[in-house]
Formats: sequence, structure tokens, C-alpha cells
Amino acid sequence: MTSLLVDRIGLLITNDPARGDGPLGLRRDAALIFDGGRVAWVGVASAAPAADRRLDAGGRCVLPGFVDSHTHLVFAGDRALEFAARMTGRPYAAGGIATTVAATRGATDEALVARAFALAYEALEAGTTTLEVKSGYGLTVADEVRSLRVAGALTGDTTYLGAHVVPPEYAGRADDYVALVAGEMLAACAPLARWADVFCDEGAFDADQARTVLTAARASGLGLRVHANQLAPGPGVALAVELGAASADHCTYLSVADVDALAGSDTVATLLPGAEFSTRAPYPDGRRLLDAGVTVALASDCNPGSSYTTNLPFCIAVAVREMGLTPDEAVWAATAGGARALRRDDIGHLGVGARADAVILDAPAHLHLAYRPGVPLVHAVVRGGDVVVGAG
Ligand code: NIG
Ligand code: FE
Repeated sequence: MTSLLVDRIGLLITNDPARGDGPLGLRRDAALIFDGGRVAWVGVASAAPAADRRLDAGGRCVLPGFVDSHTHLVFAGDRALEFAARMTGRPYAAGGIATTVAATRGATDEALVARAFALAYEALEAGTTTLEVKSGYGLTVADEVRSLRVAGALTGDTTYLGAHVVPPEYAGRADDYVALVAGEMLAACAPLARWADVFCDEGAFDADQARTVLTAARASGLGLRVHANQLAPGPGVALAVELGAASADHCTYLSVADVDALAGSDTVATLLPGAEFSTRAPYPDGRRLLDAGVTVALASDCNPGSSYTTNLPFCIAVAVREMGLTPDEAVWAATAGGARALRRDDIGHLGVGARADAVILDAPAHLHLAYRPGVPLVHAVVRGGDVVVGAG
């Protein structure tokens, strides 16, 4: 493997406060050397040592690759008509998930792989270098295993979401389905997953059902995440904190006690602006969470029902405009925050030893991600030390 020098960086976001100014560890006139798939050197451009290859950043802004800590990329079909109906006033409900479950069960392996890879590439082109990918549209033992195999071809951060909704064949027998999810299905899926997740909300699973699945998953060695408080106030966030989950995701409807619980915990609040955008729900108050001391991540929630986007620059722009995050906070949340939500310290920053994952923006500063909404600002993407998108 050859080394790569990225120099003439106008503004470098390291997310390493020891390496620069503020929480983003900002440096001007910087250079980076990637070697062996890792960051080998960070410093002043004029002092950069030689490397095998050189990439001239031309004064542009360079930041860590985005970490999308919440996606549902394994599915078939789409629900564009459901979206259109919502835009005329119909509310979003968990029940729509069944439409995608039927399409996913009926799809070939090849179709699922092709769609998931296409979406992962779309995300990469927008600067996402790490993805978490959930199952949850199979909801039989065989279909959840199949979904996790597809997810595992894209990432090590695979999540078992057998408890997405109760599938139609278990209608009226939710507790039987929970027993399957926490029993035979978990046993088959745990070897293929790093995480387990439960949709604990109205129309999905209640606190007791979610607890049953999450404690069984934890006993099988999986880390925990929870879809919490998306559709209504409820017990999801409290349960996530109580069980030591890495992340409580959505956090759209929070009580004072929920915010206090998150603030006193290691559980990250992962906000998903695409979901409120696409379901016309009220945006959560990110400012309130940050002011309380909660660690906040931003992720896409890419799925065909509630948030059909892979684009983290879009999520950053919406979080700044609608959730009260500053541009600095939003960029941190989509990089270092995502890494925290996945309990990883090798990504989300560009300190020495970090994975060589970076985005070169066609802009002088990260502020432009929110200032120029909807504009494709990614000039190049480096992943694992290789230039995988754009200038090379
Ligand atoms: O995170 N909330 C639960 N699951 C997805 C939506 C899935 C769907 O509508 O298909 C979400 O928003
Ligand atoms: Fe989700």
C-alpha cells in the first residue's frame, strides 16, 4: 500500500481538539498523510514529509468522512405514493412498514444486493465513508438472516431489527412474535450482527416487549440501539438509557426526564432530520439536547418509508435550519457524533491513527454544507487511504 499526501488544505477539520482550534480541531493551511489505511501525519502544509502520491486540495476544506449511524438499506420496492399522500395531509404510521416487508420477502437476493450497494454508493458520493445497516424488512428467520448477510457485505456495523413491527402473519399474537424475535430468530441472526435495535413506539413494540428483545440480544453479545420516541412521547428513550444502549434514535418527542436521562448517560441521541422532513413531523429540539449536555449524532435513517435519502449534507443543512444546531455542531454530529453512536474511536476524526476516511469539499469551509443546501459540494472522497470518488 502506498502513502498519500493531501496538501494545500485551506481548512482542515480534524475533530481532534488537541490538533487545532475548538471542538472541531480546526487548522488552516494544513496537510495530511495517509499510510496503511490510517492517518499517519497531520500538520502545517509547509512541513509535510514526502509521500508516494499527492492530492492537491487546492485550498478546499477537508473533513472526516461522514459516519451514517442509522440506515435501513436492505429492502425492495418504494413507497413514493405513500409520501405523496402524506404531503396532502395523511399522517405517517408504523403500519406502512408492512408494504416494504412484502416487497422485500418477494425480492431475489440479487435485487436486494443491487439496491443496497447502489444506495451505499450514493451515500459514498455524498461523503459517507461508514454506514450502519439494519435488517428489519424480512421479519422471518430466513429473511432476517438474508437481510443481515446483505448488510454484512456493506459494513461491520450490522444491526438486527427483527423487532421492527409485528408482521401480518402474527397479527393479534404480538407476544408470540416477540418470543420468536428474542429466541430462534435472535439465535440465527446474532452471529451476523454487531447490534440489536427495537422500534419502541406507537404501532410497534411497547416497553415490556422491547425490554424482552433487548435483554436477550445483550445476553447474546450484541450492543443495543433503540428507535425511540419518534411517533409519540413514550418509554423508548428511558429504556435505551436504562439498558446502556449506544444510541436512542429519532428523539422527536422528549420529556424533561428523557433529556435528563440522556444527559446523565453514555447513550447518544441520534437525530434523523430526513424522517421529520419526509413525514411532516415536528423537528426535535436539538438545541435543548446540546444545552443539556447530551451527545448528539445526525444520521440519514435511509429507508423507503419515512426518509428516503442517503445524503448527510442534506441532514446537516436541515439540522442547522430546523433543529437549532450550529453548523459546527451539525458537522461534528454527522462525523464524530456518528462514531460515538457506533462506539468507535477509529472513525469520525482525523487524528493520527484514525482510519484514512476523508471528504474534500468544493468549498472553503464546512459552513457551506448548510449555507449551500442541496448543492453537491463533494469534490473527492478518500476511504481507507484510497481516493474512491472524484479527483485522483
Ligand atoms: O426509522 N421508525 C421505524 N422505522 C423506520 C421507518 C420504516 C418505514 O417506514 O419503512 C424509521 O423511520
Ligand atoms: Fe430507522
